[in-house]
Amino acid sequence: MEISINKDSKSASLKAAKLVAELISKKPDAVLGLATGGTPLELYDELVRMHKNDGLDFSKVKSFNLDEYLGLPASDPASYRRFMDENFFDKINIDKANTFIPDGLAKDARAHCAEYEEKIRAMGGIDLQVLGIGADGHIGFNEPLSSFSSRTGVRVLAPETLKDNARFFGGDENKVPRLAISMGVGTIMDARKIVLLAFGKSKSEAVEGMIEGPVSAFIVASILQFHESAHVFIDEDAAYRLTRKDYYKWVENANVF
Ligand code: PGA
Repeated sequence: MEISINKDSKSASLKAAKLVAELISKKPDAVLGLATGGTPLELYDELVRMHKNDGLDFSKVKSFNLDEYLGLPASDPASYRRFMDENFFDKINIDKANTFIPDGLAKDARAHCAEYEEKIRAMGGIDLQVLGIGADGHIGFNEPLSSFSSRTGVRVLAPETLKDNARFFGGDENKVPRLAISMGVGTIMDARKIVLLAFGKSKSEAVEGMIEGPVSAFIVASILQFHESAHVFIDEDAAYRLTRKDYYKWVENANVF
């Protein structure tokens, strides 16, 4: 795991955007794994800026989102399809036909999940997966005790997640769908590169568990310790519980990556 501790979310997001841009420059038809939530917004803003100012070209890029609420139509203001269109896809030159998000209204959710996995495989697998982390250590909607080898499937949201996501539903956690379709932990681990972002004190326990804790399904993100190319970009607040913070800065400053 490569850890980058930054003074704020903006500088962390700029570094993460650089990794994404480098990949697209090298491989114009790269397959991106994308995330929703408050965390990746500055990353998307920077990629939009690079598209407008530096000509970063998304025309051949393909993308797969981590998850979608079950029961929400794409047109719902809280759907992840709407989130991605409004915050990213509508601002760049990606072909919408190449942007895949699980269908929250899939009639046969199980079959839909299997097809989603198959589509990822058929496109050659995910080159770079963007991740946030839940305060309970989840990645995607893989809540505590999710199987490390799980594939795309239906997930039950944890009570903490309902609370955390209520802000996207007018502050009412009863309006947050209880179920979602999510890539599995195994699906995420198959990505060739991982870029995880985490900001703020509310994420510091999960970040500590992910980086310094034992690998345990209790903090699902800790499995990333086994990933050969996992890059973690955090701010000082998210880093404040880390015991070896100075060491991580020392390694980053050695500038060998
Ligand atoms: P957030 O969610 O970016 O809205 O904090 C992250 C997550 O739950 O993975």
